[in-house]
Amino acid sequence: MPSSDNSGFAPEVFSTNSAIENNELNVAGCSATRLASEFGTPLFVIDEDDFKLRAASWKSALEKSFALHAGTVFYAAKSFISVEVAKWINEVGIGLDVCTGGELAVALAADFPADRIEVHGNNKSEIEIRRAIEVGVRAIVIDSFQEIERVARIAAELGTIQKVLLRLTPGIEAHTHEFIATAHEDVKFGFSIASGSAWKAVEHVEEQDSLRLAGFHCHIGSQIFGIEGFSIAAARLIELLAKYRNHFDRQLPELDLGGGYGIAYLPGEESEDPHGVLAALSQVVNDECAKHSLNIPFVSIEPGRAIVGPTTITLYQVGTTKSVELDGGLTRRYIAVDGGMSDNIRPALYAAEYHALLANRRSSADLVSSRLVGKHCESGDIIIREIDLPEDIGPGDLLAIPATGAYGRSMASNYNHVPRPAVVAVKGGKARTIVRRETEKDLLALDVVEPAREN
Ligand code: LLP
Repeated sequence: MPSSDNSGFAPEVFSTNSAIENNELNVAGCSATRLASEFGTPLFVIDEDDFKLRAASWKSALEKSFALHAGTVFYAAKSFISVEVAKWINEVGIGLDVCTGGELAVALAADFPADRIEVHGNNKSEIEIRRAIEVGVRAIVIDSFQEIERVARIAAELGTIQKVLLRLTPGIEAHTHEFIATAHEDVKFGFSIASGSAWKAVEHVEEQDSLRLAGFHCHIGSQIFGIEGFSIAAARLIELLAKYRNHFDRQLPELDLGGGYGIAYLPGEESEDPHGVLAALSQVVNDECAKHSLNIPFVSIEPGRAIVGPTTITLYQVGTTKSVELDGGLTRRYIAVDGGMSDNIRPALYAAEYHALLANRRSSADLVSSRLVGKHCESGDIIIREIDLPEDIGPGDLLAIPATGAYGRSMASNYNHVPRPAVVAVKGGKARTIVRRETEKDLLALDVVEPAREN
């Protein structure tokens, strides 16, 4: 391998305010070594201004592309939410998509306006539905026939008429990992259009006095590039809006096309451009509506990953390195860091690929084929299967993994009783904790030792 200036810094996978300064990674004026020494590792570092900028650019792209027909950008809380992040979302003036009572609780703890919250979930509990209606969420997205009954009953008990959308599955094979594709036929979400159950759901909702159907929703999957899948989905939903208009002689006002916009994880990749993708999508919506002589509905979207993903790095400290002899005289260099599958399950779950950067110094050592692994008792605990990294990386060095903002901390676990990392927000040279690091005390906090009782 040639020796080079192997900083590995590729701006396309780092947040807007990241750079190499004084030979180390710097995010929004905070150096990697300072962050690691002040807050410890592993550490999620989120670039606050970049987050707000991305959220605002999806908002302005929706408003520009759909003009009078722009609905709301609902940030998908599942990608990453905390009280502070909910405040940022509120400050930018967009909405929030929550899919559990827990996510709703975070939003409410942040005083997020309920009338900008949309509630998802394929199996919402009675308690979750009741709370959502009581606090006055903007809409509940209904996912099953039983849920039509449940939401209708609870709304009636609370003496209110609840605005709802129906989640539909438009039968699309999205080009993404099977586990993050959500709109093909054989899936747990929503009502299938092709089988006719979507239309039955429409009729059923219309029979409920305590529900007001506002429109249709779909989410075709995640980490999707190009608008082909979105276009087919939009066309199928619009066809159903037309059927509704023909049947009921009035029009449903809303269409929510979900999230799923892809981002760059590896050098050379490019994140979807909000303006490009939404301008193209608005053209499709206009054309399809024209085809059916339908008024253009308000169009909403739910990006999660595209807002938070690129804003965040994970900083790890290297603990151990070793070389393993492979067949054919090859060796593999293993670099083990102080986190792993408990703070990033995506490589193990979806074969997701990431980049890594030596963050605390520059090295001119040769690049060698390396495998980045975590500290968990599991051989699948791999963060990066294969990457060329400087040969002299060793204990104490810091590695930054870019684009870990979405579904990293939010899917973190305590596997092997490893405390979950802190999340630190950086801005203008200052850093502050927005989610604190778990401690050993937290890990033990739920353990109970007590005698058995009769029950
Ligand atoms: N709206 C709905 C109804 C969703 O189900 C999702 C994601 C989103 C919006 C946001 O999608 P995004 O824009 O973030 O792609 N854990 C997986 C992703 C699962 C996404 C589930 N639903 C991952 O790490 O890739």
